[in-house]
Amino acid sequence: MSDALNLVLPHLRTPQGYDGVRSLEAMAAEAGIRPENVIRLNGNENSYGPSPKVAEALATFDQYNRYPDPEQKALREALSEYTGAPAEGIVAGNGSDELIDLVIRLFVGPGDRIIEPTPTFGMYRFSARLVNAEVVTVPRYPNFELNVEGIRLALDKRTKIIFLASPNNPTGNMAAESEVRRLLELPAVVVVDEAYYEYCGRTAMPLLAEYPNLIVLRTFSKWAGLAGLRVGLGAMSPDVAGLMMTIKPPYNMNRAAEVAMLASLQDTDLLMERIKPVVEERERMFSLLKAIPGVTPIPSQANFMMVRLPEGRGEEIFYRLARGGVFVRCYADEEMKDCIRVSVGLPWETDGFVKALEEALEAQP
Ligand SMILES: Cc1ncc(COP(=O)(O)O)c(C=O)c1O
Repeated sequence: MSDALNLVLPHLRTPQGYDGVRSLEAMAAEAGIRPENVIRLNGNENSYGPSPKVAEALATFDQYNRYPDPEQKALREALSEYTGAPAEGIVAGNGSDELIDLVIRLFVGPGDRIIEPTPTFGMYRFSARLVNAEVVTVPRYPNFELNVEGIRLALDKRTKIIFLASPNNPTGNMAAESEVRRLLELPAVVVVDEAYYEYCGRTAMPLLAEYPNLIVLRTFSKWAGLAGLRVGLGAMSPDVAGLMMTIKPPYNMNRAAEVAMLASLQDTDLLMERIKPVVEERERMFSLLKAIPGVTPIPSQANFMMVRLPEGRGEEIFYRLARGGVFVRCYADEEMKDCIRVSVGLPWETDGFVKALEEALEAQP
């Protein structure tokens, strides 16, 4: 009998998972408080929750015993209406995380490369690692703008994909259309990840008609409050989508996710109305943080913002906040040292976070 561990692919033998958002119960236990008192601002979720139509549709749906449509006909049509992209060019996925994985599986093999302008979302390198690809990082400028020339110089024959989150997670800034166009002129697939599109209203979607190497990703996790049901989509050239449809697991969208997605698309007016208080709350939080000495919030176009803390105190303040039941995100990378990322939630969550931050800053390091 062989030891199964010896059969694991060599590049996957060191455990290196994605540091995902833990459960509310785990956070409450860590802080020693009740779950309802946890201030959970580490996942860029939507504190307003889904449309009320989602619960209603899930409760009355009567086909849970049937597999979902592997061709996603109804979904792709509804998503086409929402995004303006042709239905044949759309693939729905189990969160946009699945689309990132599918894009990589379609284009990237062992030894191939992806480029990511850092700091950025961690799932690009996570999925690249699974296929034993190389991740080439091109640091953003100190103001977090893209180094397009650096990306061009980093590109070689093995480079298959350039990943560009816009607005970028965790920095919150957007790429200019001229920059996206310059990247699209390069000989690689360009994935523009628009997870936070609904908070900024600017999209690369119209460029699909001009550039067959463009893939735009969106998610229902943020604007539609469906993070727990996993609903994402990719829009791309119909040829690429046709092939992606053949490599996805046939029933990748579960029926509850389908039902919730369609119900959300029946209630876009209400969901978009709820974007406004988040944007207002983001600006209120920005002003509150700006007034704190030693703290620098970074302007954001999304439902979160990055915050620079006094030098050398980032990690300590992060743990202090967590012990008090306030959960934000911190980063191990050198370029994000002393920075945290905080999601925009409800006003009481902002107030609780700002108060806890002020107290943590006053405490002795
Ligand atoms: C830039 C970016 N892309 C994709 C995702 C993943 O979204 P989903 O919940 O649809 O998998 C996130 C989630 O935080 C994100 O920040």
